[in-house]
Amino acid sequence: MNAISIGGLGKRYASGHVALRDVDLQIRKGEIFALLGPNGAGKTTLINIVCGIVTPSAGHVLANGHDVTREYRTTRSIIGLVPQELATDSFESVWATVNHSRGLFGRPPNPRYVESLLSQLSLADKRNARIMTLSGGMKRRVMIAKALAHEPDILFLDEPTAGVDVELRRDMWALMRRLRDQGVTIILTTHYIEEAEEMADRIGVIDRGTLILVEDKRTLIEKLGKKRLTLQMRAPLPSVPRELADLGLELGADGTELVFSYEASRSIDISALVRRLADLSIEFSDMHTHQSSLEEIFVNLVSKRT
Ligand SMILES: Nc1ncnc2c1ncn2[C@@H]1O[C@H](COP(=O)(O)OP(=O)(O)O)[C@@H](O)[C@H]1O
Ligand SMILES: [Mg+2]
Repeated sequence: MNAISIGGLGKRYASGHVALRDVDLQIRKGEIFALLGPNGAGKTTLINIVCGIVTPSAGHVLANGHDVTREYRTTRSIIGLVPQELATDSFESVWATVNHSRGLFGRPPNPRYVESLLSQLSLADKRNARIMTLSGGMKRRVMIAKALAHEPDILFLDEPTAGVDVELRRDMWALMRRLRDQGVTIILTTHYIEEAEEMADRIGVIDRGTLILVEDKRTLIEKLGKKRLTLQMRAPLPSVPRELADLGLELGADGTELVFSYEASRSIDISALVRRLADLSIEFSDMHTHQSSLEEIFVNLVSKRT
């Protein structure tokens, strides 16, 4: 059984704005899934529907096989949510906040569990501090502790590292991996491609309410990626030699670079290329290859749709 199963999901807000269109998505148990998309794409709407905060206009969502609207209490206890907007003005202490959240989902008190959660998040010495006195990074960690207080199987993190410094971002990534290793299914949204590239097992790309692609991260990079082989010329070339016209080569850097672009999934015969250059007495002093990053792939995907 999948952790989350979404079918035909649609959302039209009261304003008339259509935020989601016919979304089908399966999240596997134990994976880290990154939902990637520009601002306004519908990521938060999707998460809020799964967590029962927003009602869908069409379709259904199951969490561990239970319908999130009809069996709200059951599904909500399986799910933890770290919302995009942090509630940060609370007078309550860290301990009270996390402990209270556990009770809300019907879990019996377990001070030892809460204690271990706080220490995993480096919050142990802040247990008595009021939330409002904490730094932004600390507040974010409290929100994570709060989301995990009732020991959910599935954790949603909505833009967990937006506006977070590099060091805390690395801490968060390490924490997510630890949770995954403990068997927690993790779904995060992000508009940082680097984060998806670093963290995700699978990636979904959403653009203007439509889920345009769901793919294993490595496959995505291989399938859609481009490679570029750049040869450094010993002497500048005035133009691409006619004899090599079939290869679609380009000249760069005032004729001192010969650039060969090809699909990353295609295997090419570099030694044949080198022989053909030698036959034409074209000498090169260096060569390097470049593989497109997820960032380039993503920009390409989303801009194609405009
Ligand atoms: N309560 C709402 N009423 C009307 N429109 C909304 C509401 N919430 C979000 N939207 C709109 O729906 C679209 C998707 O928003 P959101 O799900 O927050 O996107 P994301 O999280 O990907 O940035 C945006 O155009 C946003 O302005
Ligand atoms: Mg959002």
